[in-house]
Amino acid sequence: TNTVKKIACIGAGYVGGPSMAVIALQCPNIEVVVLDINEERIKAWNSDKLPIYEPGLEEVVFAARGRNLFFSTDTTKHLGEADVIFVSVNTPTKMSGIGAGRAADLTYWEGAARMIAAVSKSSKIVVEKSTVPVKTAEAIAKVLTRNCVDPNVKFEILSNPEFLAEGTAISDLTKPDRVLIGGQETPTGRAALEKLKWVYAHWVPDNRILMTNLWSAELAKLTANAMLAQRISSVNAISALCEATGADVSQVSYAIGMDSRIGPKFLQASVGFGGSCFQKDILNLCYVCESVGLKEVSDYWYTVVAMNDYQKQRFVERVISGMFNTVAGKRIAIFGFAFKKDTGDTRETPAIDVCRGLLADGAKCAVYDPQVAPIQMFRDLSAPKYAWDRPHGWTKSENHIMESVQAVSDPYSCAAGSHAICVLTEWDEFKGLDYAKMYDSMVKPAFVFDGRNILDHDALRKIGFVVYALGKPLDPFLVRG
Ligand code: NAD
Ligand code: UDX
Repeated sequence: TNTVKKIACIGAGYVGGPSMAVIALQCPNIEVVVLDINEERIKAWNSDKLPIYEPGLEEVVFAARGRNLFFSTDTTKHLGEADVIFVSVNTPTKMSGIGAGRAADLTYWEGAARMIAAVSKSSKIVVEKSTVPVKTAEAIAKVLTRNCVDPNVKFEILSNPEFLAEGTAISDLTKPDRVLIGGQETPTGRAALEKLKWVYAHWVPDNRILMTNLWSAELAKLTANAMLAQRISSVNAISALCEATGADVSQVSYAIGMDSRIGPKFLQASVGFGGSCFQKDILNLCYVCESVGLKEVSDYWYTVVAMNDYQKQRFVERVISGMFNTVAGKRIAIFGFAFKKDTGDTRETPAIDVCRGLLADGAKCAVYDPQVAPIQMFRDLSAPKYAWDRPHGWTKSENHIMESVQAVSDPYSCAAGSHAICVLTEWDEFKGLDYAKMYDSMVKPAFVFDGRNILDHDALRKIGFVVYALGKPLDPFLVRG
């Protein structure tokens, strides 16, 4: 039979937490236990203040927690009892050694596999939920079978990549475009596929559950992220051309998006894409291509990351050149630090690179974000960006830069005394603020650099602001410099 009685998930992060909570809510007869080595995180999942901010998450967790959803650090007990184990640990870019800066670091994954092997007394289905390089399943299978003491225990590996986006995780999980499950093309592989399909079939329509071979599922995840990021880099490249020619990138995006072959989504020009996935997964894809001798394919995808770096740099240069080629000693209000709205996540947020660029030119950054804790901002801005670039961390003089950063708890005090406002995250609340009130409290000429094109630029110009909007005809003031 297809019945699954108990699911365990290793990794209680942005993916493990929400995805297991939705499974528990939709499948009241399955016990779901989310495990982590990080005790603080588990404590937070068991408290009133969940460790991540995600619209709708509290409702789901509070409805299922204690009923059939549990958060625990007792890996031995729960992994031992589970018949299906999801692995949703982090797979960051490797920081040192071969492939540093590109390859995926599978240390956590391997650790999880060793843990499973050590405690398994019955056969298990092990599900790759983390994003991993193609062929990881093969490596994991070796670690599992060679480390398990009981020869009767069998492991079947499935790839079930997660496509949720942060900020919309609960609706993405509840109404997924598709659920993708890859498995081995053997009788036991097919049986495992059917079992996992049975779990999702509790709420996902049959025609949205795709079953493929293992490698297709692994590669489809990397490809989906690469293609999505590529759309953003393409439109961001065009935004630079718009500024140089007088075209308006929003009009261009709208016009091309009406072509049903292109479609309207993911064509919003921005200061750059961020988040824990896009850059990491493209670099990982490039590394996989290179490892199999496909340098041209690797070079092709790498340009998506290079264009994103260019876009962030271009934004910084526009701010500095617009403000008379110097921001030294000037207070700049940074509106938004998270990598997108409706999340408190700052991993790879463009705000880090933009703030660093401005700080390096001597600016003082006052940062406001409704969901990011000040300690997180300081951690992000002070940590070396790439360990492989700066093996000894920041120098003394660079540390000094941190004294120029201030975290502010409301947008009006953030703007007060500033020369400019830079919008770096598209939070809805930024659209409804009283900009006339802010203008009065700012140094003149007062600038707005809208890195997300969410504000009413004509209204701001009427108030008196000098406005820079991405990919739009330049404010005459900025052209003259
Ligand atoms: P995360 O860092 O938020 O969570 C990972 C968790 O795993 C951490 O809490 C960590 O303590 C825990 N962990 C690591 N090793 C462990 C071990 N041996 N035992 C128990 N716990 C362990 O990461 P995330 O954002 O949830 O991403 C997880 C995976 O999902 C990554 O591969 C990522 O690429 C992929 N993914 C992420 C997203 C997203 O939006 N964040 C979307 C789709 C896929
Ligand atoms: C992404 C994928 O969308 C998701 O399917 C995958 O599972 C994980 O990676 P996420 O990074 O959470 O999700 O958010 P996403 O909405 O994709 O945004 C990523 C970045 O691109 C953000 O910085 C966002 O602001 C930016 N973006 C998005 C744009 O700049 N323009 C757009 O049109 C869309």
